[in-house]
Amino acid sequence: MTTGNSGGGCVKKDKENGVIRSVITGCGSYLPARVMKNQDFEGIVETSDEWIVQRTGIRQRHIAAEGETTADLGENAARAALADAGVAVDDIDLIILATSTPNNTFPATAVEIQSRLGMHHGAAFDSQAVCSGFVFALTTADQYIRTGFARRILVIGSETFSRILDWTDRTTCVLFGDGAGAVVVEAAEEAGTIADRGILTAHLRSDGSHKSKLYVDGGPSTTGTVGHLRMEGREVFRHATGMIADVIEAAFAATGLSSDDIDWFVPHQANKRIIDSSARKLGIAPEKVVVTVDRHGNTSAASIPLALCEAVRDGRIKRGDLVLLEAMGGGFTWGSVLLRW
Ligand code: UT7
Repeated sequence: MTTGNSGGGCVKKDKENGVIRSVITGCGSYLPARVMKNQDFEGIVETSDEWIVQRTGIRQRHIAAEGETTADLGENAARAALADAGVAVDDIDLIILATSTPNNTFPATAVEIQSRLGMHHGAAFDSQAVCSGFVFALTTADQYIRTGFARRILVIGSETFSRILDWTDRTTCVLFGDGAGAVVVEAAEEAGTIADRGILTAHLRSDGSHKSKLYVDGGPSTTGTVGHLRMEGREVFRHATGMIADVIEAAFAATGLSSDDIDWFVPHQANKRIIDSSARKLGIAPEKVVVTVDRHGNTSAASIPLALCEAVRDGRIKRGDLVLLEAMGGGFTWGSVLLRW
């Protein structure tokens, strides 16, 4: 699936003098206080700091406190994003929460966050595409904004993967962490060229034939339990760089832009080796790559907004910069969003 709202002169004009673009006007993030270092796994499973750092680049991750939920993390990130955008909750039309670790099977955790924010209008729903969740949710928001369905959308990625890990399985439990990130996306009238601010193009893919390579072995309609994450890591790794390159090349083809034009590459943070080889394959210089996996581990749908917010907050990403987001995860699902900050 492709939103080809890009490519200079070939953009369909929604209005006489321009097009509607989805511009990120604020971002926020939240990490639980507890930090678990690689050394803390020694004694839980047979592993070492050296193995984890060498194979993944991860040095530590944040773990939610007992009773601290996906809604708690998401609410904190959402409040920070609203404050950063200078937008009151009354001005939000829609909340989309990307998560694979909802508070309950239903209702959507998004409606719990909606209620906690004191929002009684509009709508809220969850979106589920595992580690690609934020890219899928942001692309969904872009569609709603460009059709005029909504003007301001809160897009959140929030996860408590620590709750679905098998803490006796060393091949998975060392990889993931908890956290949340959020952005406010607003409609803006732009000229309809690649110089516009906002989302220039987005590309989503999935292929369910890979389901067994990364999944949770429980669910309401199968076991009636929550289940635990299972992954054939080597198989996921084998597919990752090709799939990532596929959606990034689609973004370049749709816009006529190239890796030389990218100011910041903000990939899903699963493994430093995957990030490095993707950047190398695409010709993106290492100094343009935003990396948080060393401190956050893999926070699934939260990883991109966490990394994005960090790079905005520390002044790396500035207005007018061209920012490339990509993710790949369970399903498989994969996708890219190319936007101008
Ligand atoms: O976000 C969703 C997408 N997910 C991903 O992108 C994850 C993709 N996969 C990966 O990042 C990597 O495949 C892993 C980090 C999961 C594993 O790295 P790898 O280089 O592919 O290692 P491997 O699975 O081939 O395992 C190598 C060895 C094995 O031992 P043998 O069979 O060679 O004796 C494992 O049993 O490392 C062993 N191993 C460990 N050793 C110490 C696996 N996990 C651990 C561990 N500590 N935690």
